[in-house]
Amino acid sequence: MIVLGLESTCDETSWALVRDGSEILFQTIASQVDLHALYGGVFPELACRRHVDVLIPLLHQTLIGADLALDDIDLIAVALGPGLAGALLLGAAGAKSLALALQRPLVGVHHLEAHLYSAVMNRDLADFEGLGLILSGGHTLFVEIEQMGSYRLIGQTLDDAIGESFDKVAVLLGMTYPGGEKIEQLAKRGDPIRYAFKAPGLKDRPFAFSYSGLKTAIAQMVFKMGGEKKLTDRDRCDLAASFQRAAIETIIAPISRYFKDTGENLKHKRLLLGGGVARNEALRATLQSAFPQMQLLAAPFDLCSDNAAMIAGLGFHRFQNNAPSGLFQSTRPKWPITEQ
Ligand code: KG4
Ligand code: ZN
Repeated sequence: MIVLGLESTCDETSWALVRDGSEILFQTIASQVDLHALYGGVFPELACRRHVDVLIPLLHQTLIGADLALDDIDLIAVALGPGLAGALLLGAAGAKSLALALQRPLVGVHHLEAHLYSAVMNRDLADFEGLGLILSGGHTLFVEIEQMGSYRLIGQTLDDAIGESFDKVAVLLGMTYPGGEKIEQLAKRGDPIRYAFKAPGLKDRPFAFSYSGLKTAIAQMVFKMGGEKKLTDRDRCDLAASFQRAAIETIIAPISRYFKDTGENLKHKRLLLGGGVARNEALRATLQSAFPQMQLLAAPFDLCSDNAAMIAGLGFHRFQNNAPSGLFQSTRPKWPITEQ
């Protein structure tokens, strides 16, 4: 079965043609980073307008790349949320119009579930169970995967998402959005313990994450050092490395507490990792060494950031499992992964 997937939840427009849930025939991704760099983060209204501009030309490129025609498509899958309200509406309208014109079924997909699916897309589907960690620009979530479509929330961020904190700290250090990759590169040359930034102690919410305090600590340190313009290359590298260390510790701490609390009752031996921040190699290495008892299944690098292949792949399975389909599905900007 050939599935056409569409992703437009935030600042990437992406189409993909995927056979039987895993074989990527062709994928296109139009990134909008040039547009948002000026503002230090995603400017929602501009994101929507750019989706309108590129949606149809990009679909043509995708079909040409896969050497397929519209008629070859068997199913259309679209991310219906969570995400920016306007961006979701555009994607949904595009996908619904196509489904109607081609008389093909349409399945709505949860964007965060798709990030988890990307960790097993090239593997046996039986691997799609265990614990799941979604680390992206908009979300920081730790879940138990009961089965596809069914999740139990263990913890999530109380404020900023981890990717958002990388982006904001990059701006504090004088770099442009998006900052994750830039921080990671600087951190490779820096001293991670020069600054004693710490993961927050959230006593009442042991499995939750929080990033706003860490971001404020960096802002105050930069201010104390005379402002961003006064920073030397060494300062920047050390600040980036110390921030990245603390940001990763902020992920490790609640997971460790969860393992400790669950003890003998822990039934899972596998941790699925997806989302843009999963590209970070220091994070992957730390997770692997902190939890040697777990098999870490991280999404391949090219499927970590927002992409339509994961939407088409998951859409295939959701459709087979009789997930809601049809033209009357609504977009859900704030769609909890536990409500499917
Ligand atoms: O999953 P994604 O493409 O979009 C959302 O659904 O949010 O994630 C984008 C986020 C951005 O915040 C970006 O800075 C971050 O992922 N990111 C990274 C790295 N590459 C991308 N963060 C840390 N290290 C990286 N290498
Ligand atoms: Zn995402």
